[in-house]
Amino acid sequence: MSQFPDPKSLLHDAEKQVDHARSPEALAEVRITWLGRKEGRLTVLLKQLGSLSMEDKKRYGPALNELKSSLEALLTSKEKTLAAQERARTLEKDTLDITLSGSPYVHGRLHPLSQVMNELVSIFRSLGFVCADGPEIENDYYNFESLNVPANHPARDMQDTFYLAQGSGQGTQQALFPEHGAPSTEPPTLLRTHTSPVQVRIMQKYPPPIAIVCPGRVYRHEAQDATHLAVFHQMEGLLVDEGVSFADLKGTLARFAQLFFAPTIKTRFRPSFFPFTEPSAQMDVSCWICEGSGCPACKGSGWIELLGAGMVNPKVLSGVNIDPEKYSGYAFGVGIERIAFIKYGVNDLRLFYENDIRFLEQF
Ligand code: PHE
Repeated sequence: MSQFPDPKSLLHDAEKQVDHARSPEALAEVRITWLGRKEGRLTVLLKQLGSLSMEDKKRYGPALNELKSSLEALLTSKEKTLAAQERARTLEKDTLDITLSGSPYVHGRLHPLSQVMNELVSIFRSLGFVCADGPEIENDYYNFESLNVPANHPARDMQDTFYLAQGSGQGTQQALFPEHGAPSTEPPTLLRTHTSPVQVRIMQKYPPPIAIVCPGRVYRHEAQDATHLAVFHQMEGLLVDEGVSFADLKGTLARFAQLFFAPTIKTRFRPSFFPFTEPSAQMDVSCWICEGSGCPACKGSGWIELLGAGMVNPKVLSGVNIDPEKYSGYAFGVGIERIAFIKYGVNDLRLFYENDIRFLEQF
């Protein structure tokens, strides 16, 4: 059996090839060359064993089997080495640096005006008020007439607004298509100039005792500047019950100012005029920037004008069939932008509507 190769030199050959393999693919080729199921060199030799003489079988059989297991062990270990090298190479190529800190996740937040509105509502909730709502598209009756502001009353000058086509719904149809019907008898439709119409709507719907606040958007025909906006927000307050006095109004609003600004804040009331309250007042708070000594924020006076208020005018109560002999109440209206502007020292109301993230992020 001289043509049967020597297992030792076979192993030597195989070792050399394994050694030369530089990639998993090249090593797979070596495995096929030797152990491939059909034509592998060792596979073929093992198949040929059967045709050998007894003596040669004994001589080559164990040696070839040993060669096969040595070769398998060799291939497996080299496969592991190559895989490890491959991993190291990809790690080097990949620029993923797991020690680098990630980019911060930006949390959204409520707009400062929403924050102020929520805070106001929650303070008044804690004082026993409930939150009410009313339409932004109002009519002349609720916005003016029912609040003791008749047509041609000079108080209307202060609250010029945007009028819509005559009436809403059906009325609008008539204005656009007069041939469809007679002119509307509905009061003119307008964008509400204040949240006070909600007072009337609530009093028409619910009997006293009533204690509501109503935050919402309002509109005025204004030239916009740092302290005037054509679209802004207010929060209305209304309390009606038996025996309500101006002392209740003062106590509640002073407490509100302490809760909203600071426990040390001082309040003062000055006479004012609103057709729907009698008497009417303007509430000022002490300037907490200079603590009353006078600074640019309070224009040197030590006081900042905060809101309008007063005792509900008996004419308004009669208008909604609440007996002014039995019931009395107070109302107030606070500008949301104004109070945010005072609390945070913002010097231009328009900033609240520019959506500049650098501004909004500060709240
Ligand atoms: N509605 C008034 C305004 O917009 C404010 C106000 C409300 C005054 C309630 C008195 C009572 O100016």
